[in-house]
Amino acid sequence: MSKTGLSVKTSLMKVDNLLDLQNLLEEQFAHLPLVTQTTDLVHGEGSQEAEIMLIGEAPGYHEVLQRRPFVGRSGQLLRQTLENNGLPVKDLFISNIIKARPPDNRDPSPQEILAFKPFLDKEINLIQPKLIITLGRFSMAKFLEDVKISQTHGRLHRLKWQNQDLFVLPMYHPAAALRSTQLKQSFIEDFKKIDKIMQWIESQQETLSFKKQLREELF
Ligand code: URA
Repeated sequence: MSKTGLSVKTSLMKVDNLLDLQNLLEEQFAHLPLVTQTTDLVHGEGSQEAEIMLIGEAPGYHEVLQRRPFVGRSGQLLRQTLENNGLPVKDLFISNIIKARPPDNRDPSPQEILAFKPFLDKEINLIQPKLIITLGRFSMAKFLEDVKISQTHGRLHRLKWQNQDLFVLPMYHPAAALRSTQLKQSFIEDFKKIDKIMQWIESQQETLSFKKQLREELF
């Protein structure tokens, strides 16, 4: 690992809140792909206490202009669908796999994804969400290998990530939903499941903590 890479790793270990994480990302801007100035960066947005974290692909034109994730056309669809399902955006955390815009909105490269990975990983570790919703195939691929989004969208996955138990729900990307009526229908239907899924996750966590308590009391 390069000297910069090592010192970022060390600095990240000391970070315990989202604001310090954003500051560290900005300090590192010169070492990040696609970034020529700090204002090219679009940070994740929302509460550190969020129970649900959504991860998209990369900011686009409107996102860089406003320096906020998902504020363009696909963002409007996403935000509206969340609101329609009783999920106020202020209670969530919305982020992206990479925090700068690829030219012409091309797909992010593996190198770009890798360069931003420590920062996204740290966001997840700080927030500790009960549920991660991936939007599109790039964020899905962070957690699930060799799967097709057409077959896995809307299905809850429980997995181990960095030694932690995670619940991941892959969804279509809202930009894809805007390109096809059929996909838009699936996108909307999948979001209707979130409430029940959260109830189920909470019941699982209660059972686990009850079992743990019982073990501690009995043994
Ligand atoms: N698409 C994304 O994946 N992320 C954004 O922030 C906006 C559009």
